[in-house]
Amino acid sequence: MANKVKVGIVGLGRLGYQHAENIAFRIPQCDLTAVCSIVENEVKELQERWGIPYGYTDYDEMLKNKELDAIFIASPSGFHCEQIKKALKAGFHVFSEKPLGLYLEEALEVQKAVEAYPDKVFMLGFMRRYDHSYAAAKRKIESGDIGHPVLIRCYGLDPAKQMDSFLTFAKSNYSGGLFLDMAIHDLDLARWYLGSEAKEVWAIGGSYSRPEFDEINDAETGAAMVRFENNTMGLFVAGRNSAHGYHIETEIIGTKGTIRIGTIPEKNQIILFNESGAIKECYDGFLSRFEQAYLSEVEEFIHCILEGRKPAVTVYDGVESTKLGYACKESFETGKLVKLI
Ligand code: NAI
Repeated sequence: MANKVKVGIVGLGRLGYQHAENIAFRIPQCDLTAVCSIVENEVKELQERWGIPYGYTDYDEMLKNKELDAIFIASPSGFHCEQIKKALKAGFHVFSEKPLGLYLEEALEVQKAVEAYPDKVFMLGFMRRYDHSYAAAKRKIESGDIGHPVLIRCYGLDPAKQMDSFLTFAKSNYSGGLFLDMAIHDLDLARWYLGSEAKEVWAIGGSYSRPEFDEINDAETGAAMVRFENNTMGLFVAGRNSAHGYHIETEIIGTKGTIRIGTIPEKNQIILFNESGAIKECYDGFLSRFEQAYLSEVEEFIHCILEGRKPAVTVYDGVESTKLGYACKESFETGKLVKLI
């Protein structure tokens, strides 16, 4: 490999476009060399706009391009497992958006494939760990600022404005349900901060403004209560009906203090004073809230390849979070406490 990593990306939608832009323009140590999507217009448009040398509508064709060093996967979740396995087999380093697959079996297949190619860098898009605030919280916990963490409380709430598109997505059978789709990042953060795997979970949920979620056995808003192996606790609220915008909040309560992240999901420093009072605008979605984290995680992937090291987020993080996500789903569907071990 030259001193730059040549990347081919598959999936050029909401998140794929953002990743493509970061790879093409914001990280000097890599080049966006190929783009791939089943939608030909998306491929042509990006090639022309940014002067990308190679464009594909067939993923297998992109994998034949031996100029590439790494494959970046931002296609819909149902394709991740197969595309990860194929890319590793073809000799590439791989970054995949979450989740590893739609089912636990797929996540375990990916784990096997990653273990079969130990010389390749594999990274999963748990970008919150690279957000400056979440990373700082981890450092504070490690340096004992809150004593021993005892309980984590997480809110993952999508904006009500996007309810129609969530409903379409939920109906598509590709989402895995509220807990796997929405809470997966929180489940990973909880494992990371509490330093333990989940032992048992009880989850409930319902549909309050849009009964259609009930009809597809999913929830508009849900809550899960988890006990971890080291006896710490987690409370997870996931929802699709947040009136004020995209609200991601985390609290870690320790024996000597508490850390809160994102309690008011403020978009910027502006406060508008008018006849309604003092108004702070909130984030409207994941792209604006985690803009920095999406860039930082890709920088880490590229630096890992160039420096011959592995990222802190591993395939096991993906597998364990998926196991917990499925346990939440099972508990929500059966109404029973689910034990993970
Ligand atoms: P999207 O639907 O906006 O874009 C999907 C892209 O993949 C489109 O360009 C589409 O044409 C292309 N595509 C579809 N089938 C394909 C195939 N078989 N081969 C190649 N390309 C194909 O989806 P979005 O929202 O960008 O999500 C993509 C992935 O990113 C999902 O797995 C999702 O779970 C994950 N995601 C992760 C987030 C995070 O915070 N880490 C946030 C949002 C999404």
